[in-house]
Amino acid sequence: MMNEKTEQNTENLINKINEDIKKELSEKRYNHSVGVMKKAEELALIYGLDVNKAKLVGLAHDIGKELTREEKLNYVEKNNIEIDEIEKINVGLLHAKIGADICKKRYGFDEEMQDAIKYHTTGNENMSLLAKIIFVADKIEENRKYEKNESKKQAVEEARKLAKEDLDKAMLYLIDESLIYTIQKKELIHADSIAVRNKLIK
Ligand SMILES: [Fe+2]
Ligand SMILES: [Fe+2]
Repeated sequence: MMNEKTEQNTENLINKINEDIKKELSEKRYNHSVGVMKKAEELALIYGLDVNKAKLVGLAHDIGKELTREEKLNYVEKNNIEIDEIEKINVGLLHAKIGADICKKRYGFDEEMQDAIKYHTTGNENMSLLAKIIFVADKIEENRKYEKNESKKQAVEEARKLAKEDLDKAMLYLIDESLIYTIQKKELIHADSIAVRNKLIK
């Protein structure tokens, strides 16, 4: 159980992250981050997860997203972050690993929280409940409206419904949606997305 002191610490940390991302992210991505925090809180309550962790990770998950390509490459080099073949080409993916590292150093996020940030874009075979909640919340938070794309709009509504009933089903649905999209765009698929999909099906 959370005592009063931990509650106070969490609130202070949420305020700090909120201030930082307000400065470091665009208004659109800031609103998305707050949306993910809210959706992660909602899912944490449904699935019996520590609400504070879910909120903190949800709010901070895209903290590395708006670094330029060059800044991302510099960051991984300076901070000894290993990068794989796909990330070398699709540098944008690195915002997940970078975000986890920033949150460890700035806010003292534990391993589980760091992993949830690392895996929020591609998914991963070894996802905790927290990681799954962040992955799903990222894709279905309230600002994802897709008003100009009827099929995406329907898909996000379906995923929102699934998320309340069965988190793994929602994950599988969202992974499939993103794989289809990636294939249509003729982009590279990260092996972790295939691995997590196979695990969810097995
Ligand atoms: Fe992201
Ligand atoms: Fe995000």
